Amino acid sequence: MTQIDTAKPIAESDPNPLMLQIQGLNVYYGESHILRNVDFNVNKGKMICLIGRNGVGKTTMLKTLTGLLKPRSGRIIFRDRDITDLPSHKRARLGIGYVPQGREVIPRVTVRENLLLGLEALPEGRGRSSEIPEEIFELFPVLKTMLSRMGGDLSGGQQQQLAIARALMGKPQLLVLDEPTEGIQPSIILEIEAAVRRIIEATGISVLLVEQHLHFVRQADYYYAMQKGGIVASGETSELSQEVIQRFLAV
Ligand SMILES: Nc1ncnc2c1ncn2[C@@H]1O[C@H](COP(=O)(O)OP(=O)(O)OP(=O)(O)O)[C@@H](O)[C@H]1O
Ligand SMILES: [Mg+2]
Repeated sequence: MTQIDTAKPIAESDPNPLMLQIQGLNVYYGESHILRNVDFNVNKGKMICLIGRNGVGKTTMLKTLTGLLKPRSGRIIFRDRDITDLPSHKRARLGIGYVPQGREVIPRVTVRENLLLGLEALPEGRGRSSEIPEEIFELFPVLKTMLSRMGGDLSGGQQQQLAIARALMGKPQLLVLDEPTEGIQPSIILEIEAAVRRIIEATGISVLLVEQHLHFVRQADYYYAMQKGGIVASGETSELSQEVIQRFLAV
């Protein structure tokens, strides 16, 4: 039988193709209303990109998803479970891996120890060891040569790779990346893009990316565009128009 004969539509093999559903989210900082009725979905095995100019609320959205901010209303459904009221560490253990804007590598701890901190996201006792899986070094070979260096001694691009690798140590189902190419030189941007694509191909996990770098945005399957805290446009990235690019990306 050929592969085409055996291939089943997603709906038939998997009753729910959704990894994540964001429904009617409203988030405030004090009295300022930042996120306004935000709705979007992330499908299993897909890369979704959230675009929008500076200050529109992209990081606020990701912090609410990962449990660092509490919404005033709305729901977050992750793999069929309502996680709206769960604390961050429980969301991490359910499979949400987060690489925050600015990366937050621990500067005075070695690269190896930074990576091992990623194990905290694994459910208690499951597969914990002090070994770093070879796949991590296949994705980011530079880290292997730097295991005993201090996190703070790495270049910006290397720190970004370390931060993504640390999130992968927790074996996430959804990898959340907040502007991974910010302040990084072009050759390293391409390496990071290629690694993210390989992660999706090799593991089938979903990626939610916030990004302003057009080439990386185009690697995603689908985009949602934010303006003033709301989603105002969406579509396939293969159909990104010049108008959308100029309105929502700082190019
Ligand atoms: N801790 C805070 N307290 C009050 N207001 C905040 C706080 N953090 C962010 N804001 C405001 O919330 C709005 C959204 O900020 P957010 O960081 O989510 O934007 P962003 O889309 O991620 O921007 P950028 O592209 O610059 O990272 C901005 O107007 C910002 O000034
Ligand atoms: Mg931001």
